[in-house]
Amino acid sequence: MAKIVGGISVTHVPYIGRAIANNLQQDPYWKPFFDGFPPVHAWLDKVKPDVAVVVYNDHGLNFFLDKMPTFAIGAVEEYHNADEGWGIPTVAPFKGDLDLSWHLIDNLIEDGFDLVTCQEMLVDHAFTLPLELLWPKRNAGLRTVPICQNTVQFPLPTPKRCLAFGRAIGKAIESWDSDARVVVLGTGGLSHQLDGERAGFINKKFDLEFLDKLVSDPDWVTQYSIPDLVELTGTQGVELINWLTARGALGDTVKAIHTNYHIPISNTAAGLIAMETV
Ligand code: DHB
Ligand code: FE
Repeated sequence: MAKIVGGISVTHVPYIGRAIANNLQQDPYWKPFFDGFPPVHAWLDKVKPDVAVVVYNDHGLNFFLDKMPTFAIGAVEEYHNADEGWGIPTVAPFKGDLDLSWHLIDNLIEDGFDLVTCQEMLVDHAFTLPLELLWPKRNAGLRTVPICQNTVQFPLPTPKRCLAFGRAIGKAIESWDSDARVVVLGTGGLSHQLDGERAGFINKKFDLEFLDKLVSDPDWVTQYSIPDLVELTGTQGVELINWLTARGALGDTVKAIHTNYHIPISNTAAGLIAMETV
């Protein structure tokens, strides 16, 4: 059976794409952010995942407000990126894993998660940038499965539902008849608000508690409703439900490998955490 080696959650601010394209990793603005990654690269070199299941939110490239699934999954040979208008270069396609996609679809629907299945799917910055950050030299062999959650158009899935969804994803991966090693990624957050009266809102106190509880007690997050999370973390800070789903897939107990938190990157409190399954 497949093995989940661990999970990594990380911010996906589009501006990071420009920093990568212009090799600004050592620039004083960017250094505290990029310095978070070498320990995670070392861990990935050790655990050697074959597949990355990426829990993220689409920002209007693949889904728009006219058709917005709460949960969706890709089942495609190859995932292409496209220009989203942020001024970041588009990147080469990422390999899919059709066998795992369909195994997840069969098992998640059986388990009560009626997600939308996409046999055509463009992937936006929330999928591509975390993969670029985690594999800066590209791992050509890495296969991927994109899982989208709606964090954009209300109503959004509740934290309780996301954690249960993540647990079902973990159970399904572990029942996949394969010797693959799987890493589960969550992308977005931490606190940020891009528009409105509270544009620029960041909540360091909440973010640090969230990082701590994500490891030790992810059910802690389920005391909050989506409106609570919007108030605590900003309108786009709710993307942290992607982290919660990814955490749910890792089982009850995990060991934190590395954490980084830096304010701000663009309008966002930039977070990174790697966790190993035990
Ligand atoms: C920013 C953050 C995001 O999560 C996003 O999707 C777009 C922009 C930002 O801080 O600029
Ligand atoms: Fe975002």
